[in-house]
Amino acid sequence: VILFRTIAETREHVAAARERGLTVGLVPTMGALHEGHGVLLRHAREETGYVVATIFVNPTQFNRPDDFQKYPRDLETDLAFCERLGVDAVFAPDVNEMYPGDLHQKMPLASVEVAGVSARLEGEFRPGHFRGVATVVAKLFNIVQADRAYFGEKDAQQLAVIQRMVADLNFSVTIVPVPTVREPDGLAMSSRNQRLTPEQRRIAPVIYKALCEAERSIQGALGMIAAAPEIQVEYFEAVDPKTFEPVEKMAGPVRIVAAVRLGDVRLIDNVLVSIR
Ligand code: PAF
Repeated sequence: VILFRTIAETREHVAAARERGLTVGLVPTMGALHEGHGVLLRHAREETGYVVATIFVNPTQFNRPDDFQKYPRDLETDLAFCERLGVDAVFAPDVNEMYPGDLHQKMPLASVEVAGVSARLEGEFRPGHFRGVATVVAKLFNIVQADRAYFGEKDAQQLAVIQRMVADLNFSVTIVPVPTVREPDGLAMSSRNQRLTPEQRRIAPVIYKALCEAERSIQGALGMIAAAPEIQVEYFEAVDPKTFEPVEKMAGPVRIVAAVRLGDVRLIDNVLVSIR
């Protein structure tokens, strides 16, 4: 795997791959790679000829400075992970490369805001988060110019925001959603899981159990979470899978989404259910 630190060298190598007739797959990440990313990279490897992973802990999408500071970073381990999966190139810029001269600001002067689908849930609990995500993803799309870009369904609202951005702004990349990867006990893989204490880690699988129970009974699901007082719920809702608006009645495809806190670690998860 080759490591690129600059936009210019990334562009140059991707253009050369394209000239060799290869299609380009992009897997944007913030590093601390785990098997969830592994599945994204494997899909990209199977479906495209030149795979670029990006590793950038994007400051503009963090609404809490402590979350940004404590976000796990380990480039050496991530590069070895990418190497094992046959990734061609890793683009890991520093903040100056991505936001030159904008360091004193929270956001570049030009940014992407996807109204509607960004408004609620993550958008409400993490003000500015989706503007940061949409803007950095738009920049990565313009830098890498991939044919296909892979995103995990664990961040289902992020995926919906990006799909809407691509549709509304006519990006030519195809967005490929990839199912959530879970630990054997059901906990969705997340880089933030590293920050759970052993006791919090023992409790965390109740989030997925409750999401599964919610298909039958929201009351029952909330009861399961209430039985674990260490868990504070930010939201637990049934929403339309495209708009992320609350559903009027539990019918058709519905996404049950949850965000909780375990101590100072915030975890999100969701399941897609089809209710008859
Ligand atoms: O899902 C993530 O890791 C990030 O939000 C992304 C898409 C890499 C943008 O920074």
